[in-house]
Amino acid sequence: MTNVPATEASATADASSQSLTVRDNRTGAEYELQITDGTIRAGELGQIRVDADEPGLAVYDPGFTNTASCRSAITYIDGDKGILEYRGYPIEQLAEKSNFLEVAYLLINGELPTKEQYEEWVHEITYHTFVHENVKEFVQGFRYDAHPMGMLMASVGALSTFYPEATNIADEQNRHLQIVRMIAKMPTLGAWAFRHAQGKPFVYPDNDLNYTENFLSMLFKMSESKFAADPRLAKALDVLLILHADHEQNCSTNAVRSVGSSQVDPYSAVSAGIGALYGPLHGGANEAVLRMLKRIGTKENIPAFIEGVKNGEERLMGFGHRVYKNYDPRAKLIKKACDDVFEVTGVNPLLEIAQELEKIALSDEYFVKRRLYPNVDFYSGLIYEALQFPPEMFTVLFAIGRAPGWLAQWNELVTDKEQKIARPKQIYTGDRGLDFVPASERWA
Ligand code: CMC
Repeated sequence: MTNVPATEASATADASSQSLTVRDNRTGAEYELQITDGTIRAGELGQIRVDADEPGLAVYDPGFTNTASCRSAITYIDGDKGILEYRGYPIEQLAEKSNFLEVAYLLINGELPTKEQYEEWVHEITYHTFVHENVKEFVQGFRYDAHPMGMLMASVGALSTFYPEATNIADEQNRHLQIVRMIAKMPTLGAWAFRHAQGKPFVYPDNDLNYTENFLSMLFKMSESKFAADPRLAKALDVLLILHADHEQNCSTNAVRSVGSSQVDPYSAVSAGIGALYGPLHGGANEAVLRMLKRIGTKENIPAFIEGVKNGEERLMGFGHRVYKNYDPRAKLIKKACDDVFEVTGVNPLLEIAQELEKIALSDEYFVKRRLYPNVDFYSGLIYEALQFPPEMFTVLFAIGRAPGWLAQWNELVTDKEQKIARPKQIYTGDRGLDFVPASERWA
C-alpha cells in the first residue's frame, strides 16, 4: 500500500482510476489502495492505524457476505441475471447435452475431454467404485436409524485411513488418483448408507452400468440378477447431479477449502464439506422442503403458513439465496425435469402445494422486496421422492453431485500459490486479565 496524499494520487489519472482513496478521520491520513478485479486487498488495510503499536484496520464480515477468498476459474455466477456457468459453459446446455461424468471431467480438468480422455476417465471412475471390505463392516456398525449424511460424512473421512498416501497432496498424479477414487466411491458409500437404514444387504457395484445406473442398482437392486433402471429416471437423476456439481464459494466448498488449506488429505477436507452441506440452510434444505410441504398438507393451509413465515416464525425452505436475486437457473431446470419424472412415476401430490406456494410467494411483497425466489432445493425433493428416496437421502444425492465441484476447488486451492492456511481474525469481546481463583476457594 502506498501512503500518498490524495492530491498526488489524483495526478496519475490511470493509477487513481484503479484505486481507492481512504481518509482515516481519526488521524487525517490518506491512503491509496489498489483496486484489482473489483477488490481491494484486505491485508492492505492493516497499515491504517492510529498508533504504531496498535492493530491495523480490519474488515468485519460475518458469513463472508462481501469477501472474496480466492481466485477461481471453475464456476461463474451472475446472481442478478440468474446465470450459472461451469468453466464457461451455461448450465442449461450442460444439463441438456452432457452427462455427469463428462461435467465432472470438465470441472476438474478445465476443458471438455477428447474421446480418448473421456473413455479413460469413465474407465478409471468405473474401476474404482469398489470399497475395501472393512468399509462394509464399519457402515454396518452404525445404529439402524443413523442419518445417511452422518454415515456418508464419516465413511468419506474414513477413506483417508485406507489411502494414507493421499496426504502427499503436492504430487499431481496422486491427487488425480484420490479425485477419481472419491468420485467413484461416493455413490457406493451413499447407497450402502441407504441400504443399512433399510436393513437390506449391500449391493456391490456393477461395472457394466453407467455411473447413475450403477448408483440406482446399488440402491434398489433386490433379488433380480441385473438391475435395469428406467432410462428416463436414470437420465433425470444424472441431470440433477449435473445441476449440483459446483456452485463456487458456497458454505460447503468454503469448508472444503478452509480445511484443505491446512494441507490435510482430500478425504478429510471433503468430509468437512459434507458436514457443512448437511445443515438445513445449505444442502439439508431439500429434506426440509419436503417435510415443510408435508406439514402444510393442503393448499388451504398455505396462507396461514405464509403469514407465519412473514411473522418470522420460520423460513420458507427452498426459497432465497445469498447470490441469486433472481430465479435460480437450476430450479428452472429441475422444474422441467419434474415433468419428465412424473411422466414415469405419476405426479407427486405435493407438486400442487409447491406450485401454489411459489405462486403466492412470488407475488407477495415480503418475498418480492427481499428478492426471494425458489432455489435448487425447492423442487428437487419432489423428484427424489418420486424416485423412491426417503427425505434423509436427499442431501446425500446433493453430496454425490457436488463431489466433483469440491474436488475441483480443492485441486485449484492446492495449486494456487496465493493461498495460505485459512485463519480469519476476530473482534474480541470478552474479559481480560482476570485473576484465577481455584475451585476450592470459589466454592468454599
Ligand atoms: N424465508 C423467509 N424469509 C427469508 C428466507 C426464506 N427462505 N430467506 C431469506 N429471508 C429473509 C430474511 O429473514 C431476511 O429478512 P430481513 O431483511 O427482514 O431480516 C432477508 O430475507 C435476507 O435473508 P438473509 O438470511 O440475510 O440472507 P442470506 O443470504 O444470509 O441467506 C439463505 C441465504 C439461503 C441461507 C436463506 O435465504 C435461507 O435461509 N433460505 C432457506 C434455506 C434454503 O432454502 N437453503 C438452500 C439454499 S440453495 C442450496 C444451497 O446452495 O445450499
